[in-house]
Amino acid sequence: MSNPQAEISKDHKRDLSIKELKNLPSDDVLGKTLSLCGWIKSARHQKTFSFIALNDGSTFAPFQVVVTNETEGYDELLSELNTGASVKVTGTIVQSPGKGQSIEMKAEKVHLFGTCPADFPLQKKRHSFEYLRTIAHLRPRTNTQGAVARVRNALSFASHTFFQKKDFMYLQSPILTAADCEGAGELFQVTTLPLENLPKTEEKQVDYKKDFFAKPVYLAVSGQLNGEAYATAFSNIYTFGPTFRAENSNTSRHLAEFWMIEPEMAFADLEDTMDIAEEYLKFVLKTVLDSCQEDLAFFDQFIEKGLLARLDNVINADFARISYTEAIDILHASNKKFEYPIEWGSDLQSEHERFISEEHFKKPVILYDYPKDIKAFYMRLNDDGKTVRAMDVLVPRIGELMGGSQREERLDVLEEKIKACGMNVEDYSWYLDLRRFGTAPHSGFGVGFERLVQFATGIENIRDAIAFPRVPNSCEF
Ligand code: 4AD
Ligand code: MG
Repeated sequence: MSNPQAEISKDHKRDLSIKELKNLPSDDVLGKTLSLCGWIKSARHQKTFSFIALNDGSTFAPFQVVVTNETEGYDELLSELNTGASVKVTGTIVQSPGKGQSIEMKAEKVHLFGTCPADFPLQKKRHSFEYLRTIAHLRPRTNTQGAVARVRNALSFASHTFFQKKDFMYLQSPILTAADCEGAGELFQVTTLPLENLPKTEEKQVDYKKDFFAKPVYLAVSGQLNGEAYATAFSNIYTFGPTFRAENSNTSRHLAEFWMIEPEMAFADLEDTMDIAEEYLKFVLKTVLDSCQEDLAFFDQFIEKGLLARLDNVINADFARISYTEAIDILHASNKKFEYPIEWGSDLQSEHERFISEEHFKKPVILYDYPKDIKAFYMRLNDDGKTVRAMDVLVPRIGELMGGSQREERLDVLEEKIKACGMNVEDYSWYLDLRRFGTAPHSGFGVGFERLVQFATGIENIRDAIAFPRVPNSCEF
């Protein structure tokens, strides 16, 4: 009796990926017999042969495979060679007479791993982004999500490369934490207490002594505070991990779970941070322009016309650097009607940020020295007593892409600030220790990784810049 398992294990191996094949010089592969594996993107059936566009995700463009009536078992196979089916094809690489590709495969053998019935949701037509979000488990097989995932991967690798080349140490900061780093109260609480029957103290408060950590604990909104502990030991570090915010904003720029890269540098001030932020953005964009050419050409053609020129402009232009106060003056002088009127002391809305970078400067802008009352407690107070050494990097289309600051390294000033923010000094005693024991000037910033993906691809909605988006009322897949 035949053992189907054994057949599969013999048959599932391929010689190389489509990307590897395309990267080889044609002369090396023409006439060779090779095998590829992948999913059928589309199939065109003629009388005695079929064109199959095969994709394995390694590159944007599928590879053309010609299956003919000389291919083993052609007649039985034909009806199963549909969009979505998974196959291994073995055949000879030949010159392609058709347009669009220089080489193709003349299949001698096709092994079908999985058939794909006609109700496969990804038939060959354009689907809306909204619809694709409802099938987030299948959308990685579409052109757009395939390209987004490859660019995201390249941006991630480039981020590590950038910081590793500069000798920054990669720190994995904790995800469970008791501190609200940004002080905005947008925390997801983590508990093992029974929610339907909460243990209470005599004062009728929730008895956190009975919770898993014996106190309230949350998902981290940022890894920065832990990053500072390592920067004040290793000088330069960066984190790259998931962060969580329970902000109820249904916008195209907010996620409840997003990834952040947070470099932190000792013996560095805000100017150093601006320099690194600008150098970082240019480096990662240049890297993806080089390594994801096909994907970016697709985005330039179908998602944002002019994307490549826009990215080129970012790489070649000096970022503008102006103070928050100057930005307010520019907004006032513009005489533009904003939905939210702006005055000194209020936080900039996305429309203001976009006006400044998109319309006024037409390039990335670094805004610095924000009013202290609209920024987090850890930022270094300026001598004017009103502003802090904060910076935001604003970019066209997105608005705020990065946020950072020089940190308050003076123990007494920081203690006062914690109290003034209504926070409990004891809760931050370990953080204050960093100022007690060998304090040093230090600075850092955070990059919103999905916003970076949006910026690099032209993707409109942040929900399409991450594999499985988590937003208010939606945690599917
Ligand atoms: O400006 P934020 O809140 O800064 C911090 O968290 C600091 N601890 C960073 C630091 O200095 N180490 O967040 C940093 C960046 C923002 O500029 C934005 O790009 C992104 O994170 N971001 C979000 N991205 C997606 N969804 C959200 N809800 C986001 N909130 C912030
Ligand atoms: Mg910010």
